[in-house]
Amino acid sequence: MSIEVLRDIIEQRLGIPALPGIVLGLNKIVQAPDAGPKDVAIELQKDPALSAQVLKLANSSAYGLRASIQTIDHASSVLGMKALQGMIAQASILSIYRDTNMKSPFDFDGLWRHCVVCAHLSVRLACIARIPGVVLVPDELYTCGLLHDLGKIVLANSIGESYVRLVEQCHLHRPLWRAEQETLGFNHSDVGALVALRWRLPEAVVSSIQEHHATSGQGSMSAEARVVHIADRTAHCILEGTIDDSRYLYPRVKFLLGITPSEYKQAIEWGMGMARAIAV
Ligand SMILES: [Fe+2]
Ligand SMILES: [Fe+2]
Repeated sequence: MSIEVLRDIIEQRLGIPALPGIVLGLNKIVQAPDAGPKDVAIELQKDPALSAQVLKLANSSAYGLRASIQTIDHASSVLGMKALQGMIAQASILSIYRDTNMKSPFDFDGLWRHCVVCAHLSVRLACIARIPGVVLVPDELYTCGLLHDLGKIVLANSIGESYVRLVEQCHLHRPLWRAEQETLGFNHSDVGALVALRWRLPEAVVSSIQEHHATSGQGSMSAEARVVHIADRTAHCILEGTIDDSRYLYPRVKFLLGITPSEYKQAIEWGMGMARAIAV
């Protein structure tokens, strides 16, 4: 199926959620080569609700800052552009979760927990990965991990109960993306990547959403997609209580990220602590 045909199907049948104009404007500013944190702060201050959400995220323990951040100006200069872009995306996705949660039987809370654990694991793995010729930006990986299953939100919101039934039929040997592919002709990574493109998110985010199931062959994946793929599998094992089965990932973790089994085990331990903190 060509990308144009897929785009028509997805846009006509599902509808792409609109990002607030201010978020699109902010994404443009963050990606402009000559833009600085000050430009982002000026734009962001036009939307008090989004500013408040970004300040809340900047002060959350996940960013590990000692001093509290009171203003967008301060957040911009302390955290930098990449982290700010991640937070803007995170604030936007939070508002979509909030809206969709109201009208669907889909387990959005479960998906949210999975995405947050995946985002934190992505940062952790990015910090210890050894991929020849590649320098990963941990902040960017946070956004990649957080948004990797964006397509599920769109599908759950568009086809509601039939999507819930599809999810219920899946298990380890029949992953959801395969069931979606068989039933719909495309899967949530196609949907999420198209939405991310439409939202003008960075190429690394689009590619990690598109390739996070490693369906196109592990060797051809972008570095960010490799990280998110492993973080995604690991987050599933942690949250579904099947971490003992994660041994099957050791060779893949070494091949894709250059991380040894003992380093990976430490990352798993850390991820389990993070998952417990999120559950509280
Ligand atoms: Fe997925
Ligand atoms: Fe996932």
